[in-house]
Amino acid sequence: MQERIENRAIAQDSHPYKWIFPQSLGKIPQPISLSDDNSVTVSQHCGLVRELLIRKVEKLFANLSEEMMKRIAVLTSGGDAPGMNAAIRAVVRTGLDHGWQVFGVRHGYAGLMAGDFIMLGARNVGGIIQHGGTKLGSGRSLKFKTEEGQVEALRHLNEREFSALVVIGGDGSQKGAHALSQRGFPVIGVASTIDNDLYGSEITIGVDTALNIALEAIDRLKVTASAHNRAFLVEVMGRACGYLALMAGIAGGAEAIVIPEAETDPEQIAEELRSAYERGKPHAIVVVAEGAEHNAEGMANYFKLHRERLGFDLRVTKLGHVQRGGVPGVFDRLLATRLGAAATDRIAGGEYGVLVGLIDGKETATPLTEVATHEKHLDLRLLELARVLAK
Ligand code: ADP
Ligand code: F6P
Repeated sequence: MQERIENRAIAQDSHPYKWIFPQSLGKIPQPISLSDDNSVTVSQHCGLVRELLIRKVEKLFANLSEEMMKRIAVLTSGGDAPGMNAAIRAVVRTGLDHGWQVFGVRHGYAGLMAGDFIMLGARNVGGIIQHGGTKLGSGRSLKFKTEEGQVEALRHLNEREFSALVVIGGDGSQKGAHALSQRGFPVIGVASTIDNDLYGSEITIGVDTALNIALEAIDRLKVTASAHNRAFLVEVMGRACGYLALMAGIAGGAEAIVIPEAETDPEQIAEELRSAYERGKPHAIVVVAEGAEHNAEGMANYFKLHRERLGFDLRVTKLGHVQRGGVPGVFDRLLATRLGAAATDRIAGGEYGVLVGLIDGKETATPLTEVATHEKHLDLRLLELARVLAK
């Protein structure tokens, strides 16, 4: 170690014990202090001081080399979301820039429990920013929800001497991250799900791209609906959350929107569609969230059953997974890049057990304990606004 220090040291004429330190090495512990020119200086030429200094510097280098050899792991979990690859790329390249080794975990928590790690260099994440899905693969695992599964995952992380894990995923994935964090492992979450149902981030990676796909479908359906004076129903994803349906409905100018947060009677929907025709509209579009009680299936059955009385058909399009596999747009690429980079910044700062999301336009860390115990709520005033705008 001493030799290494000597090799790195640049003796200055006026200060025989002056070493130049690269700025990136960070803070120098007291009593050794860093001056403006990034050098450490001891003015006395006393042998004892020199000895003490050498020991301090040795310790410093030991800490620094540990810091530089930090190994972190990154995984993607739950429903894939366009932009996950941009987040992986950001974690890998900013991690490498910190001087760490970065490993990917294949297929989410299932891969973590199986110890399925792959070392990632800068070139391994080249050419992925423009692709949807996730290069690492994702997954859902019931076993990981159990103590046995989590202990198994921790065993692999500890055996491989990882110092931190980055979890890119949605609500369920961050509950998993919280579970590992509660068991003492340093975890950082990155907010990513097309559902936008995750507390701790106003918008999550993938939402914007998924919304644009839904919007394109609505626009197209409106064209054909207008040609025939027809009524169409479009079902969008979102699980128990109506965010995608509400936003796609507003942006697509839908005549009616059905979300789980405000259950709607099919009879009322039929009335809204009829009234749209009566107001002279050539089309009538209803956007329905998959998690609503009267989703595509429920609504289609109702309209079929009451066809005679209602006097018109409802043609149904279920977008399903089409919304997930899109090419990430600029918003998601940038959001994912910012959140991925913010995650490694937090690791560098020794801050763990948090989710990195976007709040008030800034990358913000929210404790996973808060994330795992809070729900994100929709602004239901927008549903009322959508009704007014549909007139
Ligand atoms: P998303 O992260 O997109 O919301 P899921 O809800 O399916 O997707 O969660 C992804 C995975 O996270 C689950 O398959 C499971 O392995 C893990 N997970 C979900 N909830 C919990 C929980 N309460 N505790 C531990 N792990 C969980
Ligand atoms: O959470 C993302 C999501 O796409 C939901 O909107 C949807 O309900 C679910 O995943 C579908 O999951 P799977 O891909 O397992 O069918």
